[in-house]
Amino acid sequence: SQIEKGGHKHFMAKEIAEQPTVLADTIKHYITENGLNLPDNTPDFTQIDRIVMVACGTAYLACATAKYWIERFAQIPVEVDIASEFRYRSPPIGPRTLAIFVSQSGETADTLAALRHVAEKARILSVVNVAESSIARESDIALPILAGTEIGVASTKAFTCQLTVLLALALKAGQDRGMLSAEDLRSHVADFHTLPGRISSALGANEAIAAIAKDLSKARDILFLGRGQMYPIALEGALKLKEISYIHAEGYASGELKHGPIALIDPAVPVIVMAPRDTLFDKTVSNMHEVMARGGRVVLVTDSAGAKEAGDGTTAVITMPEISDLLAPILYAIPAQLLAYHTAVAKGTDVDQPRNLAKSVTVE
Ligand code: G6P
Repeated sequence: SQIEKGGHKHFMAKEIAEQPTVLADTIKHYITENGLNLPDNTPDFTQIDRIVMVACGTAYLACATAKYWIERFAQIPVEVDIASEFRYRSPPIGPRTLAIFVSQSGETADTLAALRHVAEKARILSVVNVAESSIARESDIALPILAGTEIGVASTKAFTCQLTVLLALALKAGQDRGMLSAEDLRSHVADFHTLPGRISSALGANEAIAAIAKDLSKARDILFLGRGQMYPIALEGALKLKEISYIHAEGYASGELKHGPIALIDPAVPVIVMAPRDTLFDKTVSNMHEVMARGGRVVLVTDSAGAKEAGDGTTAVITMPEISDLLAPILYAIPAQLLAYHTAVAKGTDVDQPRNLAKSVTVE
């Protein structure tokens, strides 16, 4: 009903809008004023040699993002796999392997089966929204993401909360292994506390994105580009868009553009470029210019200084607040969600219950 939707047209819109509040709660739970606050039974990462991360859908893309963080801070090799693939392989698992399962519902059949596939051999940590779920119950430790009930089939607030918990975990891994100085940790923690406010500013792009989405809704194919830790966010933007607007969309690593998708570039294929002003910004922008040189229409997502640096020739710019490179994936998930949402609204599709999809896939 309208009341349940809190005045929004769809649950998805409500859940997108809730993110500043919900993330503030998740951050408060795992991060104190100046340090981390993970439960005592969180693994000691000096005892871990290898991490495998397994999930489906959007939760899988949270894992793909977290790989960058864990490797950066703790130098532990991380392998990320789709649950339905992982369980049919024979992954090398030892006593010093930590297996991380991420699931909003905690009931996804493939993820649960993958967990059972390695439960005897590895330590199992899960990151779930539903604390009483099967995946939580069968784990050695379950970290709740505290996103609250998510009703829209396309996951939004659960994704940014998953990223938040996984980033806290990555910082702990770095701290345990002595690879993250107390000073750096304090500065990341301070940064983390500014995230809800920045998410609110990002939501300020809502109207601008709605206008851009009117145009996108006429496309048959859309490409999303991102580099480094923004690559999984490009994949998430494409996934979200195809789920609810039924427009074919693909996410690509910007550098891989010239190995295939550049052949698709023409004015009919809009290209969304996710480009926070991080260390890879210049490279992403140069890929963007390759697209424009071939007649491609670019929607650039960056901050205002980034927009100036990137120069003219884009079709539209979505302006984000400034953000540290560490937190950029969480912040840039917001425009990805809003682009999908407004494109679907412009097309008139069923945003909260897209055809053929289920909120929780409990069959294999
Ligand atoms: C379905 C949902 C997605 C979700 C995926 C994994 O495909 O539509 O939004 O990301 O399942 O679900 P889980 O509950 O395991 O996170």
